Amino acid sequence: MSNKRDRWHSRPAFILAAIGSAVGLGNVWRFPYVAYECGGGAFLIPYFVALFTAGIPMLILEMGLGQRLQRGAPGAFAAINKKLEGFGWWAAGLSAVIVIYYSTILAWAWVYLYHSLKLAWSTDVDHFFAQEVLQRSTGPAELGTPVWYLVVGMLLTWSAIWLILRKGVRNVSKVVMITVPLPLALLALMLIRGLTLPGAIDGISYYLTPDFSRLADPQIWLKAYGQIFFSLSLASGVMIGYGSFLGRKAEITNSALITGLANCGTSFFAGFAVFSMLGYLAQIQGLPVPEVTTSGTGLAFVTYPMAILKLPALQVLFGLIFFITLLTLGIDSAFALQEAFTTGIHDKWKVSSERLAMGFIMIAFPISLVFTTQGGYYWFDIVDRWVCDFGLVIAGFLQCVIIGYLYDIQGFRKYLNSISEIRLGNWWVWMLRFVTPIVLLVILVMNIKTEFTGTYNDYPRWTTNLGGWGTLILFAVLAAFLAKASGKRKV
Ligand code: PHE
Repeated sequence: MSNKRDRWHSRPAFILAAIGSAVGLGNVWRFPYVAYECGGGAFLIPYFVALFTAGIPMLILEMGLGQRLQRGAPGAFAAINKKLEGFGWWAAGLSAVIVIYYSTILAWAWVYLYHSLKLAWSTDVDHFFAQEVLQRSTGPAELGTPVWYLVVGMLLTWSAIWLILRKGVRNVSKVVMITVPLPLALLALMLIRGLTLPGAIDGISYYLTPDFSRLADPQIWLKAYGQIFFSLSLASGVMIGYGSFLGRKAEITNSALITGLANCGTSFFAGFAVFSMLGYLAQIQGLPVPEVTTSGTGLAFVTYPMAILKLPALQVLFGLIFFITLLTLGIDSAFALQEAFTTGIHDKWKVSSERLAMGFIMIAFPISLVFTTQGGYYWFDIVDRWVCDFGLVIAGFLQCVIIGYLYDIQGFRKYLNSISEIRLGNWWVWMLRFVTPIVLLVILVMNIKTEFTGTYNDYPRWTTNLGGWGTLILFAVLAAFLAKASGKRKV
């Protein structure tokens, strides 16, 4: 195997791949449900604040760091200071956890793809999702058994990841030419259908009307930052890894800006499609918009199938296209996640991409089966909450501190300016040194405090301790171990 680093074909290929990693289920599945739970319009303000104070500055930082140091997250942090390698592994470890539960949503999508043939959800979309697809138990304490068709969905997902990743990053340049534009066109279609349904306007006004009183709730701020990190694939080593496949002269700042805006624009757009549908559901059920569904995490699996039912013709065809779209949307984020972790291993131990992909999947697949059980939905919910709202936010905070104080950030800014189309002012340094870390620290502390007074979604304490804190601690131990192990190459 050659020692030359994999490269993107061209600048558009890099930007598309970065958008492909960013735009994913986070936009059509996670954003709408988090916004719904956080009071619709009340969420948009912290969300956009988070985008400009943390999202975009951090995206520039990560892409730039990968490009400058030519390594994935663990190697990049080790190059800054050998003692920081463990942090790099922990961040990259978060992406390994995410891909394991992310594959669950893709497994649901496979099952829906099959049911599209008969539009099997046509009687009651909400009930269909909870009972017939998930066979949901009463809570996380009741795990039950794996649901066989979800296991099949899971298998299909991992096989797809395997097929794409075994050839490495070069393949990605080609795959994203299709998987990025296609879903956008489909979303537009869903949106038009949604907006023309009766009641849509109530949903939209819930989505766009900010309730200023809710802004006092630190939960909402934490969720906004967590969502921004998740959606832009930040603080998980992904963008550092992707940046590392860029050539030495590649442009950074403008590419990061384009990626960030394209991603959040997509979420905002997807929000209209989902909320117009919620308005419609509210009208037929005679309920206010905030009470329409209990699906939470599964919101997208209730509203989009509903939209499909309401299409005037070709429902089956659109059902198929929609779930294929969801799968293609998710798959490019899934392999980006897996890559973020395995690039670290490759940098340190020089294992081939083929063996790495296989090794990773052999471990990840059995673990992911937990999420296919009847209680799996709740465990999925717990892990998603902790990894995004605590894991990514903690990693984001530490990353600011490391780059802001232990690295020559002014020199880094000058470097970025020497290769980029847009000049970064001192504001960028200020953001990363003061604004972002202080905001993150405050909301983190406040939320950790609330976490110890009540439990998330009233789940039993031991389940959130195990699935939430337990996962984060387990990966910290693993990260320390990987950092200590001696590699083949000096990182
Ligand atoms: N950004 C992806 C999405 O929105 C998910 C993701 C998170 C991908 C973190 C990579 C890293 O779906």
